[in-house]
Amino acid sequence: MTSILRPTIAALAIALVSGAASAQTVNIYSYRQPDLIKPVLDAFTAETGIKTEVLFLDKGLEERIAAEGANSPADVILTVDIARLTKAKDAGVTQALDDATVNANIPAEYRDPQGHWFGLTKRGRVIYASKERVAEGPISYADLADPKYKGKICMRSGQHDYNLALISAAIGHWGEAKTEEWLKGVKANLARKPDGGDRDQAKAIAAGECDIGIGNTYYVGLMMTNDKDPEQKEWANAIRVVFPTFENGGTHVNVSGAALAKNAPHRDDAVKLIEFLSSHKAQQIYAEQVFEYPVEPGLAPSEVVKSFGELKSDTLPLADIAKNRKAASEMVDRVGLDDGPAS
Ligand SMILES: [Fe+2]
Repeated sequence: MTSILRPTIAALAIALVSGAASAQTVNIYSYRQPDLIKPVLDAFTAETGIKTEVLFLDKGLEERIAAEGANSPADVILTVDIARLTKAKDAGVTQALDDATVNANIPAEYRDPQGHWFGLTKRGRVIYASKERVAEGPISYADLADPKYKGKICMRSGQHDYNLALISAAIGHWGEAKTEEWLKGVKANLARKPDGGDRDQAKAIAAGECDIGIGNTYYVGLMMTNDKDPEQKEWANAIRVVFPTFENGGTHVNVSGAALAKNAPHRDDAVKLIEFLSSHKAQQIYAEQVFEYPVEPGLAPSEVVKSFGELKSDTLPLADIAKNRKAASEMVDRVGLDDGPAS
């Protein structure tokens, strides 16, 4: 849930005093919100006696570990999105982990073939459809380019990680030429220039500005249960989640995940933490805590998430999707997606 940025916390939420960690403490550098991961970390400590220290960052995590170099206290990296996981790997701040427990718990399509990152929870990239103005029934990713939706689609920037991953998945399924034709069709169907975050697309639907939005599943849960900003409940109430699929495939999913830091000073305990995060117990806690899906096959999500309907995840490996990112980004520019519907 990276878009819940806290501008005041450019650096850290919980001070991690370098060198203060004992041998029985795992140091976590996290892009994930502390309150989201606390329950699962508490369970880890209760089971193993190993403590955790969390350094929460909202940007510059890879750069920080790289700058700290061989003396970095980082043991484990927690983050969201395949783009950030691969960025950490490409920045050289992770190390390979070939662990039988972790590999048995996490399906191959949700982890790096070289063991540099591991998916822990899944989120679907789905359609938010107006309850009032869109008839019930399936809508595929291909349908988003159907002229019948002209002027009806809202989305955030095509250059955002979440949309780049979706377009990368489309390239994986359809190839570049067909994906580009599709993206031109999506652009022609836009109601307005891509703008805002995923939740803003639900807001726009509630306001009648468009009928169909593209967004991640967990934001729907966050809006439905938002007591701090009850207006968001109205946005959620205006939409229905539709799980689009690729032909011969499923719904595009991305992950939150973990990586073992390159110079992990407490490597053994860090591996224990990653093993724990992949375990049935941790996956159950995660499923209840965040509005995401466990990566453990067959483990049910929370009741709120179940209410969206059934997710049939696409099986295209995330590592393959990540390889198409540059092509996707160039395509977004070529098509002028972020210019909006007018050409
Ligand atoms: Fe997010």
